[in-house]
Order: sequence, then structure tokens, then C-alpha cells
Amino acid sequence: MSSEAYVAGLDVGTTKIRTVVARPEADGRLRVLGVGVVPAAGLARGIVVDRGQAIAAIAESVHRARRNASLEIGGAYVGISGAHIACRNVTGRIHIPSGEISAHDVEKVIQSARDNVRTSPEQEIMHVLVRDFAVDGEPGVARPVGMKASRLDVEVHVVTGVGSVIANLEDCVRETGVIPLKNVLEPLATATAVLSEAERDLGVILIDIGGGTTDVAVFSEGSICHTASIPVAGNHVTRDLAQLLRINPEEAETAKRRFGVALAELTTPDEMIQVVELGTEKPTRVPRRLLSEIIQPRMEEILNLVKENLLLANVYERVGGGVVLSGGGSQLVGCTRLASMILDNLPVRLGAPRNLTGLADSVSSPIFSTAVGLAMLAAADQAWAMPPSKPAGPASWWQAVKTWWRSRVLPEIKRLAQGA
Ligand SMILES: Nc1ncnc2c1ncn2[C@@H]1O[C@H](COP(=O)(O)OP(=O)(O)OP(=O)(O)O)[C@@H](O)[C@H]1O
Ligand SMILES: [Mg+2]
Repeated sequence: MSSEAYVAGLDVGTTKIRTVVARPEADGRLRVLGVGVVPAAGLARGIVVDRGQAIAAIAESVHRARRNASLEIGGAYVGISGAHIACRNVTGRIHIPSGEISAHDVEKVIQSARDNVRTSPEQEIMHVLVRDFAVDGEPGVARPVGMKASRLDVEVHVVTGVGSVIANLEDCVRETGVIPLKNVLEPLATATAVLSEAERDLGVILIDIGGGTTDVAVFSEGSICHTASIPVAGNHVTRDLAQLLRINPEEAETAKRRFGVALAELTTPDEMIQVVELGTEKPTRVPRRLLSEIIQPRMEEILNLVKENLLLANVYERVGGGVVLSGGGSQLVGCTRLASMILDNLPVRLGAPRNLTGLADSVSSPIFSTAVGLAMLAAADQAWAMPPSKPAGPASWWQAVKTWWRSRVLPEIKRLAQGA
């Protein structure tokens, strides 16, 4: 790996578009070199709804990161989310006539699992993630290559998405001059940035409460076993506040961030806050507890929807490592406590990106988990962001002439001048 190589992650969220440029360090950390954040436009719950607006917003986010890092961005890992995503666990099996498992056999068994995926015509496969191999019926094998066997089984987690939805987002990214090097399911990227290996081994639920969607990923015995995207998140909380307090959405967003509490019992009845009522310029005083009494039911709804989804998928029991919350919606005071109450007293913590250096402070919040995770995955795959080098033009031709002059011609002239 060149020490100059760098990667980029592009999180096209419902509320913000975040670009992170970073360089992998020899010690395994990621050096953050540049960050670009702009309000999202033209997108709703992971879907492009206004192409022109989406392109302009993505271009601006990329431009800011590029300027911040003083580096060109030719390609990036792009996050994909939304209700069009579906997941399932599928198995594959092959026989091993040679009696010893080769790397080719491993590819073949994964392909056989892939062939067993039944998708509707509009769906395409985004990820095939290996959960477990079984050698002659014995499960729990991490690396089967080189083992003696007559049969190899695999269990994979398959993530699919609607092809046209993905193609539309890819197209917007390409229009900005950035090549989408890989589309990554957002909770997978978030998990990369915030979860520890111990949590994945013990079993953990990751809940990313964004603006338009709440994304869920469940890991058990070190690998992913469930993913889901629930179309209710932080923006619904803001909308509730705007409607019930009769204030404009910007005012509701500010009030939520400054005074919002997810658990009403954490406020005192006499604490008052100021908001400006719709149609008047006059500030009015409302109890902070009223704010949290509006927020709490919506947050409970989100967390109950997550719980129902996990119960339905039969993965709720597998989580000894507890729950990790991420995304902007998780920043409400009392959110971890409310989550623990709804999720049967499981331990809950807030997850922010880890193992960073450089401009680490500018991405240390849970709202950057997805963008940082995308950059980490790109670094792991050595999927570099540098643009392809330009074909030799007049400038590089002149450079070549100068180099040739200095290295060959000039020494020869000096030699002749010295009469050698
Ligand atoms: N300090 C805060 N307190 C409460 N809520 C917050 C805070 N900061 C951000 N939010 C909320 O978080 C949500 C945005 O979160 P985030 O930036 O993770 O979403 P996104 O990635 O743009 O959207 P999505 O993941 O749904 O596509 C908004 O609803 C916003 O109001
Ligand atoms: Mg997000």
C-alpha cells in the first residue's frame, strides 16, 4: 500500500450528506483528512425524489471534503438504505470429490447459496455475507480451506435492494464526477465504525436512528444475522413537535436539539422553555416536560417497531452484548435509558466512530458513524479514492523534456566543458 493512498465514504442521508476522506495508518487507525457536510436535498428515506437537487447536494458535500483535505475524490464507498432493502439467511452445499477443501470450493459453495436466493425481478443482490461454514456437517468453521472433507455447507446473510432505486442514487453520484466504488448497506458501515469485536461475538443489536429511517443490524457469534430498515425516525419527532406545539419545523428542530428529552420523567414539572408560535413573532413559554411528553411516545414507537421486527425475525434472544445506539436521533437526552426500558433492560450504550486520528474530533459524534464506517470498509478493501491518472498532456510532456535535459544532456555538456 502506498503511504499516499486514501479512501472516501459518502453517506447520502435523509437530512445530511456527509463525505469523509481518510488514510489508513500502519497502526490500523484511520487518519481523517477531510470532511464535507451539507443538508440533504432531493432524497427521502434513502430514495432519490428530485434528481437535480440530489446531484447538487452530493456535489457540494464532495466539494467541501475535497477542499478540506486538499485531495481529489475520484471514487467513494456509498451508503444505501431504505424500505426497499430486504435480507434473509440462505444456505448452500457442495460435495468435495478431491477430499480437501480449496479456495475455489469456498467460492463455489458461496455461489451455490447465492443461486438459492429467490428475488423478484426488480430486486438485486447487494451483499452476500458469510455467517458460518460446516465441514461434513460440523458447523462453526471460520476458514475451511485446506481441511479434509467430503461435503461443505455455508450459511450466508443476503441483502437485496431494488435495482432501480440503487441505480438512481449511483447515477446522481456519478454525475458529480465520483465513481461509486461499492454500494454498502448503511447499518453494515455503521457497525464497522462503532462495534467492538467482543460485542459482535457476544451478540449485539445496532440501532441507527437517522432522520428518515431507523436502521437495524444484529450480530451474533461474530457475524451478521439480521438487517432491517424502519421508516420512522428523528424527523417524525420534529414533525410531532411542530404540529402539537404549533411551531414551524425549523423552530421544532432547534427546540428538540436544545431541550429535547426522550424520557419525560427526567424533566422537572416547573422547567420552562421558549418557542415562537406559528403566525406570531412573540415567544411563548412552554414546560420542557410538555416537549418530552410529545417526544417520548414517538421514540417509544420507534423502539417498539425495532423490537417487533427482531422478535419476528427470531433474533431477539441472541444478544448477550446488549444494544448500541447511533445516528442523530440517538442524541436525545435519556435515549439510552428509554431504549433499555423498551428492550427488556438490555444494556444500551451510545456508539460513536472509534480508532481514528487526524481530524478525528470533527467526526467523533454518532451522526458520523455511517460515513466513517464507509471509509473504513473502503480502506479494508483497498478501494482507493484517488482519481485515475490523466493521460499525458502538454504539461507532463514538458516535465519529461526537463527531466531528460537535467539527467542526460546537462551532465554531458558539463563533461564536455571540463574537457574530459
Ligand atoms: N442533538 C440532537 N438531539 C436530538 N436529535 C438530533 C440531534 N442531532 C441530530 N438529531 C436528529 O437526528 C436526525 C438526523 O440524524 P442523522 O444525521 O443520523 O440522519 P441521516 O443520516 O441524515 O438520515 P437517514 O440515516 O435516515 O438517511 C434528525 O431527525 C435530527 O433532528
Ligand atoms: Mg444515516
